[in-house]
Amino acid sequence: MTQPHKILPHKILVVFGTRPEAIKLFPVIAALTADPRFTPVVCVSAQHRGMLDQVLEIAGIVPDHDLDLMKPDQTLDGLTAALLTGLGGVMDAVQPARVIVQGDTATAMAGALAAYYRKLPVDHVEAGLRSGNIYQPWPEEVNRKIIGTMASLHFAPTETAANALKREAVDPARVHVTGNTVIDALHWVTARIAADPSLASGLGELETRFAGKRIIGVTSHRRENFGGGLEAIAEAVRQIAARPDVAIIFPVHPNPNVRKVMDHALAGLDNVALIEPLDYPHFARLLSLAEIMLTDSGGVQEEAPALGKPVLVMRETTERPEGVEAGTAKLVGTETARIVTEIFTLLDDKAVYEAMARAHNPFGDGHSARRIVELLAHEIGSEA
Ligand code: UD1
Ligand code: UDP
Repeated sequence: MTQPHKILPHKILVVFGTRPEAIKLFPVIAALTADPRFTPVVCVSAQHRGMLDQVLEIAGIVPDHDLDLMKPDQTLDGLTAALLTGLGGVMDAVQPARVIVQGDTATAMAGALAAYYRKLPVDHVEAGLRSGNIYQPWPEEVNRKIIGTMASLHFAPTETAANALKREAVDPARVHVTGNTVIDALHWVTARIAADPSLASGLGELETRFAGKRIIGVTSHRRENFGGGLEAIAEAVRQIAARPDVAIIFPVHPNPNVRKVMDHALAGLDNVALIEPLDYPHFARLLSLAEIMLTDSGGVQEEAPALGKPVLVMRETTERPEGVEAGTAKLVGTETARIVTEIFTLLDDKAVYEAMARAHNPFGDGHSARRIVELLAHEIGSEA
């Protein structure tokens, strides 16, 4: 009697290297792991080290491959060269059926290119975000477009992102609106904290020190803001901190170009806490404590609308217009006077604040990872 043909689970290589990719991919890895049709193989480039490891630990992910590539103050070309050869080597060893990358980092772009060089289908999570300006965000706008030219499946978080891909003549049948997996991650971490508040209790000392003050959370790391932009941002934070009713909690990105500017301008101010990057539960706690977020981050622009937290975005343009359209996010650029004026308006004009502080879900409903895995299963089924 012939044995029934056993279909092996499909090996999916999930490639990432930075904090935001890890946050947005751990829900996908969890969904793949739970599905008997797939065997996820996790490869981290470790383009980030400490900030990546913070996410791996909370999400309980032990990578199958760790290239450990981060170097202090790494250059884009040195990093990209090391990524391309390193990730290619892992693909040769693993021989996956498909490769998944997320977003717009150097790791994502080099991962997609290494897969393409092997004619492996590469699927793109968070596809189609476009600012229309190749220098904002830099180099991420172009990284994302490069991936878009090679991707097999494009998982667009929103209709806006899907339409951007279709305008670039991507086959509409390959584009799927899934929502953004960052909302899955946010729901997961919120539930974890609710079950075990000690996971996010490490800000207790600052909460006591700043009791009665109005907390503003700040993050800043964009490469296009290095130099003058970061100095203007630091000066804005200094001027905001001159108000006695305000306290600023600022987890400082470990990039030396960011650190030196912020330490120089802001160290020693009574109501400014310059702290190490927070792990995801503690950052979620900061999001809930803060009255306003002031940031140039991409991910924070997506999390803030879901929480109804006004977010002032220190950029001239954004590839995530949905938060601005929803009214929760506002672009304020990087000039000191504008940032200070916008923060003071939000602090002093209740009507303006309340108009921004409404929860919306333009970026998804928290079930994006499940949709992505179903689409992958459908794709693999259609290949059989
Ligand atoms: C990268 C991504 C950017 C993303 C950001 C998230 C690219 C080109 N840029 O930018 O899209 O928004 O991550 O934070 O891929 N460092 C540490 N420890 C860490 C992480 C970084 O010390 O855990 C320092 C190192 O000196 C490193 C430097 O930061 O060389 C820059 O890291 P890099 O990944 O090149 O750039 P980011 O600015 O973090
Ligand atoms: N974040 C974090 N700890 C911090 C600052 C940010 O966990 O100290 C999270 C944040 O919630 C968001 C992501 O990191 O999900 C954003 O990462 P980052 O700003 O570094 O990158 P970007 O989103 O701009 O690419």
